[in-house]
Amino acid sequence: MLLTREEMTFDFEGGKLDPVRDHDFLEWSMNQFLYGEMTGIQVGHWLYDAPDFGAAKFLARQSLEEMQHVDNFLRIMTMMNLKPGKAHWAVRFLSTGMMGGNWAEHVALEMAQGEGFVLMAFYGVIDALDHKPSTDILRRAVKQEERHVEFGENETRKAIAGKPWLRRRLLGLSLVSMWGVRRLAGYMGKRIPNDHAVLRHLPAFLALSNRCAETRLRRIGILDRPLAEVGTLRRAALVAEAYGGKALGGLLSLVTSPLRLLPFWPSKKRLTDVYLDDPHVSGFELPAPDAVPHAEPADAHESAN
Ligand SMILES: [Fe+2]
Ligand SMILES: [Fe+2]
Repeated sequence: MLLTREEMTFDFEGGKLDPVRDHDFLEWSMNQFLYGEMTGIQVGHWLYDAPDFGAAKFLARQSLEEMQHVDNFLRIMTMMNLKPGKAHWAVRFLSTGMMGGNWAEHVALEMAQGEGFVLMAFYGVIDALDHKPSTDILRRAVKQEERHVEFGENETRKAIAGKPWLRRRLLGLSLVSMWGVRRLAGYMGKRIPNDHAVLRHLPAFLALSNRCAETRLRRIGILDRPLAEVGTLRRAALVAEAYGGKALGGLLSLVTSPLRLLPFWPSKKRLTDVYLDDPHVSGFELPAPDAVPHAEPADAHESAN
């Protein structure tokens, strides 16, 4: 990975999240993670679009890991008596609304940047949550998330080589996802108690997430100077250029599929829309203690490779 665990670690100054006292905040947070993991179904789309065998094999394995992460969060939530519920609109926008329109957008925005944000949040929960059974599960899951981010970084570097227009476009789209994180920070900033040992740090934690995203963009080669040196007009032009390209792509897909213009044409509901009603989620029960695997199957698979 292009950033170290240390660079992505926020100092909560010893503050801890308590599963009973902080029930409501933990329930809200875990529901954001649950939704994020459910968007792992989108990996299937990219498996069909993989540029080479190595990438296809990686994605096939990733899809399994993301579905395991769904179960990880259902286990964590059940252990801490947290109920599944809706994710915040900014999280849905960052995970699904920002879904890439092509391979370069997918690896840059969803894997390097998006999963990079998630990885920071995982590190934060591991460092601050006072519930060892949950942090043990997350410690195993972060190894897989680190691999997903690293794959995104490497594939983005390959994709932008010799293509300055693509670098500009990915930068414009990245600026929008960083804007989404700032909106989330604003939402939290207004609602969190500022005398809480952990929660008072959340806006600063999200600001660090954006600084890490900027560092990642620079190390990948998408950004060639500090973001502070990119003026407001230039940023607006980058976003307009990126979305201009996206709008053109959308128009072309409408031309190839005009039925979608009809008002009564049904839009397909995906698992990310209906997962809360899925019996696997609504009726989730912890496995019997002797049925809990000691290692994630994907890790066992790795040792067999
Ligand atoms: Fe995941
Ligand atoms: Fe992931």
